[in-house]
Amino acid sequence: MKNQLDINFIRSQFPAFQNEKTQNLAFFENAGGTYVPNTVIEKLNDFMITKKVQPYGDFSASIEAGEEMDNSMKKIAELLNVRHDEFIIGPSTTMNMFLLSNSLKDSIIEGDEIIVTNQDHEANIGAWRKLAETGVVVKEWCLNPETAELEISDLEKLITKKTKLISMCHTSNVIASINDLKTVVKIAHDQGIKVVGDGVAYMAHDIADLKGIDIDFYAFSLYKTYGPHLALLYGKKELLEKTKNLNHEFLQGDVPYTLNPGGPNHEELACLSGITDYYENVYNHHFGSDKSNLNKKGKKVFELIYDYEENLIKILLDFLKLKKNVRLLGKTSHLRSDRMPTVSFTVDGMSSYDIAVQAGKENIGIRNGEFYAWRCLQGLGIETNDGVVRVSMVHYNTIEEVQRLINFLDTIL
Ligand SMILES: Cc1ncc(COP(=O)(O)O)c(C=O)c1O
Repeated sequence: MKNQLDINFIRSQFPAFQNEKTQNLAFFENAGGTYVPNTVIEKLNDFMITKKVQPYGDFSASIEAGEEMDNSMKKIAELLNVRHDEFIIGPSTTMNMFLLSNSLKDSIIEGDEIIVTNQDHEANIGAWRKLAETGVVVKEWCLNPETAELEISDLEKLITKKTKLISMCHTSNVIASINDLKTVVKIAHDQGIKVVGDGVAYMAHDIADLKGIDIDFYAFSLYKTYGPHLALLYGKKELLEKTKNLNHEFLQGDVPYTLNPGGPNHEELACLSGITDYYENVYNHHFGSDKSNLNKKGKKVFELIYDYEENLIKILLDFLKLKKNVRLLGKTSHLRSDRMPTVSFTVDGMSSYDIAVQAGKENIGIRNGEFYAWRCLQGLGIETNDGVVRVSMVHYNTIEEVQRLINFLDTIL
């Protein structure tokens, strides 16, 4: 029989589901930030008690602090199947994108062109749009207002000999369909163009194959992938080596720290290996422990998660599709090949804010707004203050929770 995700085991790993304050909340705001498993919390706690000293010194607490931090870098590199010196850990994706765009200022100059989308979260638009201040020409790849999708044929029309960079989301945090990054990268590389991918809305549901896609730079937020409030920026080593040093003068050449002034928060970095420990525990529980590397284990775990998440979103989509007063954004298919389990919608004659507030009273956590994807909502003709209602699920949500949400929506729609 096909292995299925053991939801009881999954929920037992997250203390939020055992705590009386949070256990009855049907939490559907995961695209805003996920819960953390005990493996992360325990490491954080232990670091704060026994290793909260300046790391990399010569006494045991300091040696161990450094070792824990290095261990996280090593484990994350193995999970992503990249080198440990091909990424930095910073405070947020917004900040990491600003660091990246600033570090490329010497190579993208006046008269050069870059392409951004209007489907993205502003973090992956604003940092690039700011380069217009130095004379860079910024072009917008607009989504199709009927389907909310980015169409490759539209991108091709925007590319010229002067195009240096394309920046786009792997998945939009509102539309949720999976953009074909691999094809975009192929088109771009054939013409010497670099591609930046925003994987923030993707990485809670899969491990992007960065080497397979051949993406040049890729960013995602670790607090949305079961970790603390940190974010990761990946770049191909040979490209990172060409970026400008944003760090202290004496660190010139010390790639990738040249992009990481101040470095990450130590205790949070140290507990990142709690994320990979969590995936490993899920793997061992479902497949038995073995010596496969973390990337292989992670991929197997996410195969289970795909099926499980598809089932959750199908139930919600099937309900919403029948409601004549509901405008669903993006694809109506529940298939993983089409979309992630985030559903955004508006309701004729009802404010999205009111729906979110009423849900809150029923202990159902959803939100309304533009989720910083305001250009996306504008492109779809949706008023950005009230915005959409967004329901974002991950693999620890249950069918019962989705049913609770449906029962609530049924009473108000
Ligand atoms: C798709 C997407 N990109 C970027 C960001 C920005 O991430 P951060 O909060 O780490 O700056 C978000 C945050 O919601 C997002 O959803």
